[in-house]
Amino acid sequence: MNIVVIGAQWGDEGKGKIVDYLAAESDIIVRFSGGANAGHTIVTGEEVYKLHLVPSGVIYPGKTVILGTGMVVDPKALFDELDMLRGRGIDWTGRVLISDRAHVVLQRYKRLDTEAEGRRRNPIGTTGRGIGITYAMKAHREGVRIGDILEESVVATLDEEDRDFLKPYIERLRPLVVDIAPYLAANRTKHILYEGAQGVLLDLDVGTYPYVSSGYSAAAGASLGGGIGPRAIDRVLGVFKAYTTRVGNGPFPTEFRDDRDGDLATKIREIGHEYGTTTGRPRRCGYLDLVALRYACRTNSIDSLVLTHLDIYDSFEEIKACVAYEYRGKPRSDFPASIDVLSNCDLVTRTFKGWNRSIGGSGRYEDLPPEAKDYIRFIEEFTETNVDVVSVGNDRKQTMVRRDLWTRS
Ligand code: GDP
Ligand code: IMO
Ligand code: MG
Repeated sequence: MNIVVIGAQWGDEGKGKIVDYLAAESDIIVRFSGGANAGHTIVTGEEVYKLHLVPSGVIYPGKTVILGTGMVVDPKALFDELDMLRGRGIDWTGRVLISDRAHVVLQRYKRLDTEAEGRRRNPIGTTGRGIGITYAMKAHREGVRIGDILEESVVATLDEEDRDFLKPYIERLRPLVVDIAPYLAANRTKHILYEGAQGVLLDLDVGTYPYVSSGYSAAAGASLGGGIGPRAIDRVLGVFKAYTTRVGNGPFPTEFRDDRDGDLATKIREIGHEYGTTTGRPRRCGYLDLVALRYACRTNSIDSLVLTHLDIYDSFEEIKACVAYEYRGKPRSDFPASIDVLSNCDLVTRTFKGWNRSIGGSGRYEDLPPEAKDYIRFIEEFTETNVDVVSVGNDRKQTMVRRDLWTRS
């Protein structure tokens, strides 16, 4: 069975935590998009792992993880991460694979990324990891694939700077490289998890263009970038926070405003430790945007929503969520393409009663306070999608699953 896990907002929803949790019952975990712009955090008791390129399933002993075709891979960042994992006692030998069709982030692409960003009148706020340039080179048919750098005839055509950069990694990469089409075909009876990076609203096509990343982080990306056909996807899980965050620039309709929302931005940022995993930048924070979440459900065939960070609202008397936008006096119930509308709309909100107690220790969904369940029920009705998993803390153990996700519905 094939389950796809995507971020349903602007990234950092807790995908790493959820993929790690679901990895227990998976055999193979394939990451299908992005590169070292991602930062996925896994917490197991005292241990905290921050992964950028290696799929989150690697922490579980014995699981095979694959960096898929849709990824852009910086060999230096990859081996730094693999060395870090080995140093912390994670033995990954023989179980980290990389698609020969994934693209390579060359050293100079990172430079070009930063330069391009510096020239933009309206900067995107990229992570400077060379992501956009690598995907652009790929689309321009000038990119270099992982499989290419194992072939001397291709390496010979590269510039000296690129050859020098790649040289220390070629023989280290060779044993990891796999052709994922036959590999996945041979494993088709197994449980395979497809791990997204970024989020629906950062997807090149579905997101808030041009304030997006350059890969396909929407569920459809799992197909091309993960090496399976769209009909092989059995379930799509969309991970979202009880509120919304965004790192970098671009429209964010529900972002907390000091004049309207008091100290909510600071409060959520501090309680939720909302600082970027990759760049350390403070994350922008705002209300849960149900208009955007419904858009994510519709454009990604999300079967199950995964609600994270519900515990961050523990001390709140009341909670608000956005149920519509209002632009030039007219209500808007759909998520528009226009950056102007998204940047200048007002919000129609609905207020929910808070639960005013700590929920991090709630073992089962039934143990959640009625107010928290009301919030969840409304989200389900609004998006017409079940919230099948609820996360109430960063630890693996603080996860409630309301149905067996590995059973076909
Ligand atoms: P990802 O990019 O989607 O994998 O998310 P990040 O790892 O960048 O950011 C999510 C952060 O929230 C991490 O520090 C997680 O450990 C933490 N986290 C995940 N789920 C929860 C939750 O339900 N509650 C709390 N308090 N923290 C969570
Ligand atoms: P995970 O997988 C949050 C954002 C950047 C920037 C924009 C483009 O951890 O959820 P890029 O370097 O990709 O060209 O930057 O996308 N961005 C993310 N924001 N989480 C991420 O990944 C992100 N990956 C990219 O901040 O606004
Ligand atoms: Mg992240």
